[in-house]
Amino acid sequence: MTNDQPSSPKCVRVCQNRTCKKQGAAKVLEAFAALPVPDVTVSATSCLGQCGNGPIVLILPDMVWYSGVQASEVPLLIKQHLLSGKRVKQMLYYRFHPQG
Ligand code: FES
Repeated sequence: MTNDQPSSPKCVRVCQNRTCKKQGAAKVLEAFAALPVPDVTVSATSCLGQCGNGPIVLILPDMVWYSGVQASEVPLLIKQHLLSGKRVKQMLYYRFHPQG
């Protein structure tokens, strides 16, 4: 197995369903749209089944979940996770990432 494959393109899913929307998900999506990252697709998604912990952001193919994401935190998430490949520990969704 070689290691010279470029990492697969990432996709950011931002839940825009009712509960997450009430918690500010539209602004989170806008914040991602305002800071486009090459090879990263950002899309709205319907309910991810985690209502009440939103706004929920799911990053694929990493399967990393972020909860309670605020628009003001999006630049950090972009810089640290999408550009540097490091999870933003304090924003991880405890339910799926209990150890951070
Ligand atoms: S509304 Fe966002 S997870 Fe259900």
